Amino acid sequence: MTASPTHARPVIGIGVIGFGWMGQAHSRGFRRIPSFFQQRPADPRLVICSDTIAERRAEAVDGFGFESATGDWHDVVDHPDVQIVIITTPNMLHLQIVQAAAANGKHVFCEKPVGGTPAQTVAAELAARQAGVISGVGYNYRWVPLVQHAKAIIDAGRIGTITNYRGRFLSNYGSDPLGLLSWRFLVDQAGYGVSTDILSHSMDLAMFLNGPISSVTGLGTTFITERPLPSVGGTHYDRGKPGDPTGTVTNEDWFGAITKFANGSVGTFEACRSMVGPESQNAFEIFGTEGSITWNFEKMNELQVYFANGTKETGYTTVFGGDRFPFHGNFVPGNANSIGFEDLITIEDSEFLRAVAERRAYNPGFEEAVDFVSVQDALLRSWESGRWVDVISLRVPAGAPT
Ligand SMILES: NC(=O)c1ccc[n+]([C@@H]2O[C@H](COP(=O)([O-])OP(=O)(O)OC[C@H]3O[C@@H](n4cnc5c(N)ncnc54)[C@H](O)[C@@H]3O)[C@@H](O)[C@H]2O)c1
Repeated sequence: MTASPTHARPVIGIGVIGFGWMGQAHSRGFRRIPSFFQQRPADPRLVICSDTIAERRAEAVDGFGFESATGDWHDVVDHPDVQIVIITTPNMLHLQIVQAAAANGKHVFCEKPVGGTPAQTVAAELAARQAGVISGVGYNYRWVPLVQHAKAIIDAGRIGTITNYRGRFLSNYGSDPLGLLSWRFLVDQAGYGVSTDILSHSMDLAMFLNGPISSVTGLGTTFITERPLPSVGGTHYDRGKPGDPTGTVTNEDWFGAITKFANGSVGTFEACRSMVGPESQNAFEIFGTEGSITWNFEKMNELQVYFANGTKETGYTTVFGGDRFPFHGNFVPGNANSIGFEDLITIEDSEFLRAVAERRAYNPGFEEAVDFVSVQDALLRSWESGRWVDVISLRVPAGAPT
């Protein structure tokens, strides 16, 4: 850390690996921290960025103000001025970068789900812990101000005892058969399909709001088995043309699950990337003996609440986002002035920077990432066996032989 010349505030060097959608979103997030979070213990400095695509490296320097860019990610984890490494590459590259960064004493923020398989997430958590570095995982939907409010309502007992939970993440990013065969559709680059990609968000939110999941039954399937091959840099939002050469999708489009939670409640989950209709429906409905709460990312700035209040003469009430809820006022004052997706990324980047500056753990860190893949591991076993299975925590206890 060096001191900021203007504010006598420490400056923390940031290195970003993978400059696609999320690499750019986090880079903007760090750049925006000083103007949105006046009360901050440190300032970020965009030191070095890595991507295999030359145009993206040029954009990182020219458009985002990185001091340098490289085609070799090792230059980022080896850079003496980098204290935090942000990992936003395809999933199957996460683990080797986490291990190299942690071995060099860098704090690591990795996009969800940290690795492409449960075993990789477990290994990443171990690497960070053994190196004594702070870890963070990109479960950004936890930071939605109204999701934080929902958690406060639940924790205060205002909807009574939770009986059942419905979680879903229904996206249309893969609903067009002409959508390119980008890395997300390939097991060797993404790991598993939606169970790794968007079910992870849905189940992380469920465990944040309703506690651990204890047993599951699950099923996955693929609806679109062939897709046009991409040219360099194509993403899951890009389209091919009829007649383009195609390749085979090697992971699942859809995953469904029934779960039991440790608190005695039950849940259902559905994640799909190739549905026609829903667009980015990361949503939950949580029902208790005294009320219920529903939220849908498609209307991120609205929460529906229902309080029975001992009478049936009631109904759902819409609560709009506003500066009385956590973080919202950092972006806009008043009520019903909306915030957006990248504001969530700025919040998590700010919270991670704060944790590093204060040398304390960040939540959700890699331990919470392991909590999701423990459930995913059970879901995959259930899919294979067709049976209910117990969730076995994959967290490696301190002092256990490795
Ligand atoms: N939290 C969220 O809401 C959210 C949303 C989207 C993606 N993600 C996660 O973010 C990660 C990246 O997803 P994305 O949508 O940004 O992907 P993307 O395809 O847009 O970007 C990935 C980038 O990594 C680069 N890359 C590939 N190999 C590389 C290497 N060896 N060295 C350096 N760069 C390399 C690619 O060129 C590309 O620019 C994934 O783990 C994904 O699960 C999270």
